[in-house]
Amino acid sequence: MRFAVLGCGVIGAVHARTIKALAPRAELVVAVDAVEERARAIADEHGVDASTSLDEVLARDDVDAVTICTPSGMHSDAAVAVLDAGKHVIIEKPLDVDLDAARRVLDAERRSDRTAMVISQHRHDLASRVVHEALTAGSFGTVTSGMALMPWWRSQAYYDSGDWRGTVEMDGGGALMNQGIHTLDLLVWFLGEPVEVFAYTGLLAHERIAVEDTAVATVRFASGALGIVHGTTAAYPGLTTRVQVHGDRGSAVIDHNQLAYFHAAGDGDEIRAHGVAGGGNQAEERIAAAAPVDRTTSHSEQFEDFLDAVEHGRPPLVTVETAARTLAVIRAIYTSAEAGRPVTIKELSV
Ligand SMILES: NC(=O)c1ccc[n+]([C@@H]2O[C@H](COP(=O)([O-])OP(=O)(O)OC[C@H]3O[C@@H](n4cnc5c(N)ncnc54)[C@H](O)[C@@H]3O)[C@@H](O)[C@H]2O)c1
Repeated sequence: MRFAVLGCGVIGAVHARTIKALAPRAELVVAVDAVEERARAIADEHGVDASTSLDEVLARDDVDAVTICTPSGMHSDAAVAVLDAGKHVIIEKPLDVDLDAARRVLDAERRSDRTAMVISQHRHDLASRVVHEALTAGSFGTVTSGMALMPWWRSQAYYDSGDWRGTVEMDGGGALMNQGIHTLDLLVWFLGEPVEVFAYTGLLAHERIAVEDTAVATVRFASGALGIVHGTTAAYPGLTTRVQVHGDRGSAVIDHNQLAYFHAAGDGDEIRAHGVAGGGNQAEERIAAAAPVDRTTSHSEQFEDFLDAVEHGRPPLVTVETAARTLAVIRAIYTSAEAGRPVTIKELSV
């Protein structure tokens, strides 16, 4: 698979390194950025071409796929152009900043025969896979609730560092849209179809941005399970993210991307009358029994999944459709916070 990387900033550099590490299955052909020196820096590092024009790159026969690493509000236009040019596409999170844009990518994907994938690298973490498998197997019984917590810190200097950061048009939101999306995406992947949210958001510890630095929300899922979402970039000095799922036969906690707690009652186990306050932790044995992860960069496994998906003609783990579902929850959270009422996903649905 011969790749172009579009957008040679912080994450574009990671994509380039990820592609290089997957040789010979993947090859980086050209680095593209609106700013020539940025394209040139990555191109020189890897000994490949540099370009400032996506159109020029899409006309090349030696490019099979494009990874999109531009500011979030530019993702859909580029993705549609790539798919319409008959190339495969990998889109950085978020899919884009609003649901009209998500719809345009879904339409382009449907009319093309190419593969489209959205980055959500933590779905490939060992801990995430173990919990998802347990949920799919019904190991936690009736799933009752879950939480996605992200108490992070980003300084004012971070928001001042790029002209698109913290803007409605290009960042599309703040702590949730840019950072908390990873943790929220896991909760939605674990608990299934979201139905309704109620939320508050605030801009409490930063200035000169037009988006939230703190958000809290409740989510109701189609199964009946209830969820809590917390995302902030105003929690100094920044703590670890946490995802919890709970059912009437088991629970799991992922802390800092590691399986901190896991318990699933066995078939013959008697369910105790009272809880065990964190006892019975089976996390170590669950992790030991799972296939180990071999990762060069944070994105390695997801890129491998993309290559496998194209090779075997199957969808990747993170499809445009499921990324759009997570984006819909974030949009519903913003709508609810603004309107001061619960908002159904259907009202906004893609
Ligand atoms: N998966 C992750 O963990 C992760 C981490 C960081 C960023 N991201 C996502 O990656 C995207 C980029 O973030 P970043 O931190 O790398 O930003 P960045 O500002 O460092 O890089 C963006 C690059 O895009 C270029 N660019 C802007 N407009 C362009 C255009 N029209 N054509 C070509 N190039 C253009 C800029 O010159 C810049 O080099 C965002 O959507 C962000 O949410 C994902």
